[in-house]
Amino acid sequence: MKPVVVSECAELHKIVHSLHLQDLRVGLVPTMGALHDGHLSLVRESLKQSDFTIVSIFVNPTQFAPGEDFDKYPRTLQSDLELLETVNEKENIFVFAPTAGEMYPKNFDTFVEVGGPSKPLEGTFRPTHFRGVATVVLKLFNMTQADVAFFGQKDFQQVQVIRQFVRDLNVPIKIKMCPIRREEDGLAMSSRNRYLSPDARQRALCLSRSLRHAETLIQAGCRDRAVIEAEIRAILEHPQHKIDYIAIVNPDTLLPEEAENGNTGNVGNAENGNALNASISPTFTLPVAILLAVRVDDTRLIDNIVVGE
Ligand code: PAF
Repeated sequence: MKPVVVSECAELHKIVHSLHLQDLRVGLVPTMGALHDGHLSLVRESLKQSDFTIVSIFVNPTQFAPGEDFDKYPRTLQSDLELLETVNEKENIFVFAPTAGEMYPKNFDTFVEVGGPSKPLEGTFRPTHFRGVATVVLKLFNMTQADVAFFGQKDFQQVQVIRQFVRDLNVPIKIKMCPIRREEDGLAMSSRNRYLSPDARQRALCLSRSLRHAETLIQAGCRDRAVIEAEIRAILEHPQHKIDYIAIVNPDTLLPEEAENGNTGNVGNAENGNALNASISPTFTLPVAILLAVRVDDTRLIDNIVVGE
């Protein structure tokens, strides 16, 4: 069965209220549509851990800066519903697809500004992005009244930002991060992969390849930040690629460890990142997160691994 589509918050509230009255647990998978197997794995996890699952589909304008791909972002509601039908055997999936007017009514003027984890990395290159994400995600939490929400590790920094505001604002919801889903050749699944030409798609494999190589080096004992970064850079470099960042950071703070005794390493993008003015240690300890953002032709891709958890 195709899932039931709800577009109004008031109607969704009624449905969720009646589920909660029956003591049923509601999971939320927030998406911007253009669903792929990565999203489906979140839906499957939610179906395992909850009685009903709401998949929200909303291309959120406030998380795109002018000049980004808001207009061209794929909107594929019919095929999204067909894909969801394949996992809706128990008819316990709802799709919440609000209109822009429902989400941002006239005179809307309140935003969620998260500090800490929203500042480095994506925060440097897309300074208004997490304000838009945090605002829409908090609205989705309130609109759906879900008990638990599922996010993919591919957007590792996004998950840390969401965890931060959930903690800071006492939002009554549990946040679960699920592993990155990859194509057979290693490319992290993303709605933006469809922008890649066959040639760029092939070159895009350098992201996952460089992360696997870094993981091997770390497992062999390397803890030298400069060595790992140089090895990754060598794999990513190509005349048609622009590396926005290669970050070797603490998974909780998303910052590099600070040097002890004035023994410093490369300060990287120090002017922009929060607290990055501190001296960076030339070595790192485990667990460590390595995050990449690379433009492959015109498509900006992100990927990451966490080693030593
Ligand atoms: O990860 C996404 O697809 C979006 O950032 C989200 C969480 C649905 C908010 O618009």
